[in-house]
Amino acid sequence: MSTRPTTSRYEKYAASSAENYERYFVPAIGEPIARRLVDAAGPASGGRVLDVACGTGIVARLATEAVGPEGTVAGLDANPAMLDVARNVSPDRIVWHEAPAENMPIPDAVFDLVLCSLGLQFFPDKDRALRETLRVLAPSGRVVWCTPGPIPSLFEAIDQALTKHVGPGASMFIRAVFSLHDAVEAQTLMETAGFDAVEVETASVPLRVAPPADFLWQYVRSTPLAAAVADLDERARVALEAEVAERSAPFVDGDASVMDTRLLTVTGTREGK
Ligand SMILES: C[S@@+](CC[C@H](N)C(=O)[O-])C[C@H]1O[C@@H](n2cnc3c(N)ncnc32)[C@H](O)[C@@H]1O
Repeated sequence: MSTRPTTSRYEKYAASSAENYERYFVPAIGEPIARRLVDAAGPASGGRVLDVACGTGIVARLATEAVGPEGTVAGLDANPAMLDVARNVSPDRIVWHEAPAENMPIPDAVFDLVLCSLGLQFFPDKDRALRETLRVLAPSGRVVWCTPGPIPSLFEAIDQALTKHVGPGASMFIRAVFSLHDAVEAQTLMETAGFDAVEVETASVPLRVAPPADFLWQYVRSTPLAAAVADLDERARVALEAEVAERSAPFVDGDASVMDTRLLTVTGTREGK
């Protein structure tokens, strides 16, 4: 007879969302997707690269390896806690900017390549952020960004359990994460902002993350969802965890949960003048 756990795994994770993000989200999800993005973009040796919505800096770090010692890399994010972790885990030569993507404290035409992984879907004003991106790109410079969605089944299971045990606010965050996956919408956003040679690609990326009960808390405690669950008492956390484990059982494979994540990758060029 199986007995339900009486304590949750909530306390296993650090109080800092940014530290959890770097320790759990980046190795399982952020880095495989960042590698795909940097490979697709192919930063030139000696190039000047900006990572927008850099979070804890995984794209900036991979770009630094790609551009080599003659290249320069900067990261920009609106969240100072994410930037603090980025500074701690990255080479000193990366320059960090704390600012919204819609208003970059960066001169015109100083980058050859702008990258943005898993960020654009959150921007309140995507058109303004893309126009800023165009402004900071040198003539013939490129942007390459990627966003996930539609929502994978594993996240659907977590979303349903969070909605039941925490409330609809939790669902709004997860819906936002997977909100920008339509190829026509992406093309229109880019062309409206003024990009040339826009290309949109969709692909499926297989990811292996922690088993459900751990993945739940790793994800929740790495993101703004942490605030939504902070007031749950331990009984409610146990109930939430049990429900996620039950709903996610179909996605367990050995010591991992598996999910195929659809990913939109979008490229555009600033006209050469
Ligand atoms: C899911 S994280 C992605 C971080 C990183 N690119 C990665 O792949 O690990 C999304 C990031 O977008 C940032 N962000 C959200 N809205 C932003 C905005 N308007 N301007 C700049 N950064 C923003 C958040 O602070 C967060 O660090």
